[in-house]
Amino acid sequence: MDVIDALNSRFTVRAFKNDAVDKETILKVLEAAIRAPSWADTQPWQIYVAGGDALERIRRASLENSLKGMLRNSDIPAPKNWPPAMKKRMEDMIAEREKATGLDTSDKAVRLAVSQLNYRLFDAPAVIYLCMDKSLGPWSMFDLGLLAQSIMLAATDYGLNTGPAVMLVGYPGTIREALNIPEDLSIVFGIAIGYGDVNHPQNRARSRRRSIQDVANLIGF
Ligand SMILES: Cc1cc2nc3c(=O)[nH]c(=O)nc-3n(C[C@H](O)[C@H](O)[C@H](O)COP(=O)(O)O)c2cc1C
Repeated sequence: MDVIDALNSRFTVRAFKNDAVDKETILKVLEAAIRAPSWADTQPWQIYVAGGDALERIRRASLENSLKGMLRNSDIPAPKNWPPAMKKRMEDMIAEREKATGLDTSDKAVRLAVSQLNYRLFDAPAVIYLCMDKSLGPWSMFDLGLLAQSIMLAATDYGLNTGPAVMLVGYPGTIREALNIPEDLSIVFGIAIGYGDVNHPQNRARSRRRSIQDVANLIGF
């Protein structure tokens, strides 16, 4: 698979089959992905991958926390407000997903079931957690973004699907405890990895993109 094919075929999977992903394949994905560039080769990332019992402990705790109504408190806080154009795209994306899944999210029970998929870690057999030292700033976060997309593209090449989600790191305390992640690391982001359930309604939607004319300004050509 070439890079353009991987870029075009990757999409966020929100429901996985419970087929395991072997450790060697995950290592090959990560080995390719850590070729990502970083500020002055600082390679600020620390990667934890949860599978098996460790992941089940996180999954159980995450579901329990959400059912208790515990507020999410990711190490990296979520933005409180978005510029109007972005808010609109978010709303459009939710509406389109609703259409594709055939689910009516104005119904409280449906909304709960959809959000529970996140807390169930999309039923993935493994989750990759990207961490960095708490003292680091936005440029290292930028590096982690490069790493995240590299992981997802490499995974695509190995026939795997991925679900990048901030909701996967909503309860960092339980992740830290299950994986023994030191306090001086922020748990920045989670990427569920495995084999997507192609028949699941949540995997039907494909996101749109702004037109290239709207996004890119090429001057002097
Ligand atoms: C930083 C970030 C946070 C995200 N958080 C969530 C999340 O919590 N739950 C979720 O279902 N998807 C989450 N996503 C997936 C996005 O919704 C998805 O990438 C976007 O709608 C575009 O769709 P695509 O990945 O299928 O192209 C997140 C993606 C990123 C990059």
